[in-house]
Amino acid sequence: MPKYRVLVSDPISEQGLQALLDSPDVEVDIKTDLSPQELIAIIGDYDALLVRSQTKVTAEILQAAKKLRAIGRAGVGVDNIDVPASTRHGVVVINAPDGNTISTCEHTFAMMMAMARKIPQAHMKLKNGTWDRKSFVGVELKNKTIGILGFGRIGSEVAVRAKAFGMSVLAYDPFLTRERAESMGVRMSTVDEIVEGSDFITVHTPLTKDTKHLLSHDQFARMRDGVRILNCARGGIIDEKALVEALANGKVAAAALDVFEEEPPIGNPLVEMDNVVVTPHLGASTEEAQINVAIDVAKELLNILQGLPFRNA
Ligand code: NAD
Ligand code: MLT
Repeated sequence: MPKYRVLVSDPISEQGLQALLDSPDVEVDIKTDLSPQELIAIIGDYDALLVRSQTKVTAEILQAAKKLRAIGRAGVGVDNIDVPASTRHGVVVINAPDGNTISTCEHTFAMMMAMARKIPQAHMKLKNGTWDRKSFVGVELKNKTIGILGFGRIGSEVAVRAKAFGMSVLAYDPFLTRERAESMGVRMSTVDEIVEGSDFITVHTPLTKDTKHLLSHDQFARMRDGVRILNCARGGIIDEKALVEALANGKVAAAALDVFEEEPPIGNPLVEMDNVVVTPHLGASTEEAQINVAIDVAKELLNILQGLPFRNA
């Protein structure tokens, strides 16, 4: 007879969930696309909840979660979970911070190449029957400077690939040391140095009160003319209104965005702009990343339920 019930409320790789599915102690229910009311109605039966980013774990849901001991987030950001309310209810929140680093880094690079060479725009035109070679002159990455704001797991992997493309790398992170910057061959910089001295700027921080609108009107005004901007981290790190203005007046040549202040970005002018490349929050959407994060979070949830030591809380 299973001792613990785990609810999986977002699409998560079943292959990755094997640790939970194989445990005789655990019964796993996979129920996705639940409304908040439907989740409130059943959450009281579960010892653990496993989510990706669609399920919003609000204080109201936690109030109804009388047996809940742990919430696992199959990914990095826990911004869809009310962590202070979880703590008040004695519910541990864990994430899977390592499993999607490479996928998100590679997506950032794919977006940078797509933006630099206008690949989505040229693709659409040719698919629509027009052979147009004049409109899609791009820029090389070699000998350009990329500024990386947030030099954690993903930011530092982006730096490795940028260097392989012959780019100079400026990096800012409050925890970056000179020794680490030197060992990685990047220049430790201030936010201002990155804003003023980069041809490409990419953000890889969490969204916090300190990083909200890290790039806004003032920063865009001080950037190099024709700068290119990337956000594959979180909507809101870049002020979208300021970005629209800077794209419209030509200060920013192009932007590549995987994330938005509101998702999905219904009515968002950035999606309509010709010089903006967009994807629907796909950074972690690879077979490998989804298996990795599910394996990590499933193992840790099992540890918590069985009273064993666990990581990533
Ligand atoms: P990480 O924790 O390894 O790195 C984040 C870094 O940001 C840390 O080194 C931290 O010191 C730094 N930082 C914090 N505040 C800062 C500030 N004010 N200025 C500059 N740096 C600051 O996280 P990660 O795994 O590299 O993920 C980075 C971001 O990417 C997170 O927001 C995460 O949610 C997001 N992400 C998005 C996708 C996607 O699908 N698009 C996938 C994975 C991660
Ligand atoms: C994350 O924070 O890990 C990302 O948003 C990836 C995701 O789960 O889609």
